[in-house]
Amino acid sequence: MATFKAVRGTRDLLPPETALWSHVEETARRIFARYNFGEVRTPIFEDTSLFARGVGEETDIVSKELFRWQDRSRAASERDTSLTLRPENTAGVVRAYIEHQLGESGQLQKLFYMGPQFRRERPQKGRYRQFYQIGAEVIGPPHAGSESPLRDAEVLEMLATLLDELGIQGWRLEINSVGSAADRARYNETLRAALEPVVGQMCEDCQRRAVTNPLRVLDCKVPEDQPIIDTLPKIADSLDDESKFHFAAVLAALDAAGVAYTRNHRLVRGLDYYTRTTFEFTHGGLGAQNALLGGGRYDGLSEAIGGPRAPGIGFAMGEDRLVLTLQSLDPNSAPAQRVQAYIAPLGDARNPDALNRVNAGALALARELRRAGLSIELGDGSFRLKKSFEAADKAAARIVILGEDELQSGILTVKTFATGVQTKVPRSELIQFLEQ
Ligand code: HAM
Repeated sequence: MATFKAVRGTRDLLPPETALWSHVEETARRIFARYNFGEVRTPIFEDTSLFARGVGEETDIVSKELFRWQDRSRAASERDTSLTLRPENTAGVVRAYIEHQLGESGQLQKLFYMGPQFRRERPQKGRYRQFYQIGAEVIGPPHAGSESPLRDAEVLEMLATLLDELGIQGWRLEINSVGSAADRARYNETLRAALEPVVGQMCEDCQRRAVTNPLRVLDCKVPEDQPIIDTLPKIADSLDDESKFHFAAVLAALDAAGVAYTRNHRLVRGLDYYTRTTFEFTHGGLGAQNALLGGGRYDGLSEAIGGPRAPGIGFAMGEDRLVLTLQSLDPNSAPAQRVQAYIAPLGDARNPDALNRVNAGALALARELRRAGLSIELGDGSFRLKKSFEAADKAAARIVILGEDELQSGILTVKTFATGVQTKVPRSELIQFLEQ
């Protein structure tokens, strides 16, 4: 019979690697708490139109990569709706901000999230159809200070601290400003005009983008197009004074904090909601998919999806890529876990009553030790001594032998694998002995 496999672009995460995932998540939670972020959990699917209006109909994510379906109505109170597995979490968080009127508090909302996202991309190393993001958003009414360049710089400084604390050496921060919506409209026209005489020599995607969304031409990776793109006007020259001033203030705050960055005029990002500051952190160990994380400001997103004015800035880290980077920096980063002791009940397989007695005694002993906080693996009374030793040596630092004699005498035999020393330990002293 044909067997099942995880669907293309999805994968199972297994121990010991999952310990590294937990480590990344715990570190992120610790840092988020230090910066006063609280956790938000939004549903994994939303109305398709939230992403169409939020992320943008013309983006690759919405036009090509959504996992969406028509949800049939079951009751008279329901309508058929188009639903979509979230391709990212910012639109969902801003929807929740609006739905729960979080802006009414007059405070900045500082929210973080962790969880799976879904995009129908061509799978390759570091790119999956179900992938995991750890992200955060700072959003609020303008009078709460949500537009301040200090917020941008603080988020970037937090990211630098988080990557450093994770032990990811060699990251690079690339930063740009895509200006206000008006700046971008102006730049799009400038680009359109500049592209007109040259676009015929460019790739098919660029020819389409030159019409639908000229800004996207700057994302093109086709080598032959690069010399043409280098000659195009820069967005920095289309920014109005306010946007220029905002960007200069972000960079000055980063300088003061000692966070290194590189300005990248071509960094426009693949989502339409961005305004002003945009950024990516990259890492050389990742190959083609080198963006560890991306983010930026989205001052008009709330209004675009029917909410009040609520400027914001945020980011999402690709957790899959953080784990890949940690593994590339240290191939031993998730060593197999060893418990403190393996309890080997030793019974006589021909005597079911005796076997049951040692098995029951072993479970009682394991319960006592585990309740005292020790990590314990429990063998089986039907194993021969050799098999127990082999299993214990793979899983544990020590083996505790428990046969009928030990049950009666209360004196247990413990072997420590690192030293090869075998010791007789009274049951009352076992916890203390194993804790050493
Ligand atoms: P994004 O750049 O589309 O931004 O994704 C952020 C990060 O998610 C990427 O840098 C990458 O590490 C990871 N990522 C994206 N697609 C995949 C994939 N198919 N496989 C593995 N990893 C992937 C956003 O999603 C925005 N919502 C970020 C944001 C938050 N902007 C403001 N607030």
